[in-house]
Amino acid sequence: MDVTSYDPSVRRLRVLFATAELFPLAKTGGLGDACAALPVALAASGVDVRAILPGYVSALDTAQRKHTISRLPGGGTLLAARTPDSGLPVYLLDWPELFRRPGSPYQDQDKREWPDNLRRFAAFSAAAAALAGEGDPAGWRPDLVHANDWHTGLLPAFLALRHGAQPPSLFTIHNLAYQGNFPLDTARALALPEALLTPDGAEFYGQFSCLKAGLRYADRLTTVSPTYAREILTPEFGAGLDGLLRARAADLTGILNGIDTDLWNPAADPALPVPFDADHLAGKQAAKAALRQELDLDPAADGPLVIGVNRLTEQKMADVVLAALPDLLAMGAQVALHGEGDPGLEAAFRDAASRHPGRIAVRIGYQETLAHRLNAAADLALTPSRFEPCGLTTMYAMRYGALPVTRRVGGLADTVTDIDNPPNGRREGTGFIFDDPTAAGLVGCLRRAGRRFRDPVAWRRAQRAAMGRDFGWEMSARRYRALYDDLVVSADAPQPPASAFLEAAE
Ligand code: ADP
Ligand code: GLC
Repeated sequence: MDVTSYDPSVRRLRVLFATAELFPLAKTGGLGDACAALPVALAASGVDVRAILPGYVSALDTAQRKHTISRLPGGGTLLAARTPDSGLPVYLLDWPELFRRPGSPYQDQDKREWPDNLRRFAAFSAAAAALAGEGDPAGWRPDLVHANDWHTGLLPAFLALRHGAQPPSLFTIHNLAYQGNFPLDTARALALPEALLTPDGAEFYGQFSCLKAGLRYADRLTTVSPTYAREILTPEFGAGLDGLLRARAADLTGILNGIDTDLWNPAADPALPVPFDADHLAGKQAAKAALRQELDLDPAADGPLVIGVNRLTEQKMADVVLAALPDLLAMGAQVALHGEGDPGLEAAFRDAASRHPGRIAVRIGYQETLAHRLNAAADLALTPSRFEPCGLTTMYAMRYGALPVTRRVGGLADTVTDIDNPPNGRREGTGFIFDDPTAAGLVGCLRRAGRRFRDPVAWRRAQRAAMGRDFGWEMSARRYRALYDDLVVSADAPQPPASAFLEAAE
């Protein structure tokens, strides 16, 4: 959809949406997808939302209608632009020394974290805070600020510590495991406000934590599924921050992510040879045949085609998937994996593929269109996790008629219903779920899936249920909208002192 078609004379709620990733300008994972689609869904519901993103090379190259709007006193230039297709307004912080580099938003080409990441994202957060507090030169000033993940954790803190009335802030946790922790001395050298360097600020076990800053100073907190919102209040899932989160539990809401159903739509996906939908699956067969050819997999295999498109990390249980490969082969499956991450796991998966030509294909790397083709071709999608804030990959698989084999944790528990045990017996199952985060747990679940695969009627029913689930953003955008309205209204009311919740935690 295009977000540009609103009557400019109507005053709408203004939101500045700060993120380190926004597809197609920048993406390393689900953050980029969620932070692209949510603002567009909000705009569709009438919010005047503008994103702000660092001016990486990919963002400067991809954004449209770029023009300079101001030079910032500390360095850097603020550009105004639009995203392609959706036309979402986006500010880009063009600061060549900090952001115009080869590599990813966070790492160099050899996958080493940029050593100056604190400076980069502190500068980004400071620029966003200045824009939020003072408005842009054309007079646009947000009614509230929505920050996302550790890269923007300092934004709520800078707002809270600025003089004068500032817009209230909402901070969304997309993944508590990535915390943006740096030596305290690095923070001191950047002359960050003293208040931030204390345990009541962003100090975290002797380090400086950008994520803690966001959790500590934002007026409201959300995370990307209801189950994860409950889990992170416990030591098992709280990554050391569960105490702070428990103290702020009244301000924390879990809102399930949606997916962009235009971009991830098998009926109109330019990456596929033939379109398909829940009632016409011939295109899915064509996608399978094409993928087998592309990846040199046996074209005549009759077992399930099992795919995985995921970061090769401990979070995604890539080690357990590796251990389960022999069992997958024993049940007659064909396996196609695409991912990157831990170098040891990358090498081990490559090695497995070289020992089983025609049966296991592994493509290390990151290709957006291959991810689409894999989901389209697959019978089963491996998406297990040790913890999972939401898990968009699982929803993409279901939309493409690939039944997920996944774990009952976080957002996965909120999006997949087990085929053999649909809750309340009301809704049809859409995948296969297990609990035990071990190879035995995964293999047991895969065997169950393998048995179902040989029952075409049951399989077809599950596929139809999975493809028919509504994973669009509309409902979730409405929840964010309600939270925004509430936040703007209560920002006008007197606030308790900023440290009140920390005292309550003791
Ligand atoms: P996370 O953000 O934790 O990695 P999600 O499942 O929410 O998990 O989102 C992952 C996103 O990254 C999806 O859009 C998925 O298709 C994409 N992705 C992951 N690995 C790859 C890869 N190797 N190539 C292309 N896309 C990938
Ligand atoms: C994070 C989480 C993932 C979530 C994504 C978008 O990367 O790991 O579960 O889907 O953010 O919110």
